[in-house]
Amino acid sequence: MAEADRRVRLAILISGRGSNMEALLRAAQADRAFPAEPVLVVSNRGDAAGLARAAALGVETAVVESRGRSRADFEAELGACLEAHRVELVALAGFMRVLTPAFVARWEGRLLNIHPSLLPRYPGLETHARALAAGDREAGATVHLVTAELDSGPILAQARVPVRPGDTAETLGLRVLAEEHQLYPRALAAYLSGTAPVAPPPGLLAAPRAD
Ligand code: GRF
Repeated sequence: MAEADRRVRLAILISGRGSNMEALLRAAQADRAFPAEPVLVVSNRGDAAGLARAAALGVETAVVESRGRSRADFEAELGACLEAHRVELVALAGFMRVLTPAFVARWEGRLLNIHPSLLPRYPGLETHARALAAGDREAGATVHLVTAELDSGPILAQARVPVRPGDTAETLGLRVLAEEHQLYPRALAAYLSGTAPVAPPPGLLAAPRAD
C-alpha cells in the first residue's frame, strides 16, 4: 500500500450499545479519505449490544472481561490485545472503565474519548441531569485526549445544542447524542490530519493523500 493511502489502525473500546462506535465505523467505511481504519472493537463486557453492531459491519470484535479481576490484570490483557492487532489509535466510545495512569501513559496522544457535556463542565456521570439542574441554556459533547485525570484531557472538538423548555435528561441526551455521532468522526479525522487544536504524535499524522 502506498504511504499516501495509509490509514491509522484504530481500535474502538465500548461497554454498551455502541452508537458512537457505529458512527465511527460508518464514517470510515463511507469515505476512502477517512484517515483511520477501524481494525478492532473491544468490549469489557460480553453482553455489550455494540459487539453485534460491529460484527454486522464486518469489523473484528474481542471481549476482554473486566469483572472479577484486578485492574492490572484486565489492562494487561487489553494492552496485549491492542498490540496483537497493531493498533495505533484507541477511541473510547461509551467505555465505562477508568484506565490507570500507566495505561494512559502507554497510549499518550493515542487515546481519545467522547464525553456528553461541554467540558470542563460536568466531568463524570449524569451530565444531562446536572446541566438541567444548573439551568444551563446549552449542552453538548466533547471529544478529548485521555489523560490520567478523568474527562480532563486536551479538547479536540465540541458540539453544542440548545436546552429546550420541558427537556428531560432523556430528551436532552438524545439531542446531544445525535451531535456526538457527527462530532466523533469529524474530531478524530481532524486530529489525524493535524487540523485539531492539538497535534498528534509525529507517527500518527496522516500522510498527505494522493487523491
Ligand atoms: C455517549 O453519550 C458517550 O458520550 C458517553 O457514553 C455514551 C455512549 O453511548 N461516553 P454509545 O454506547 O456510543 O451509544
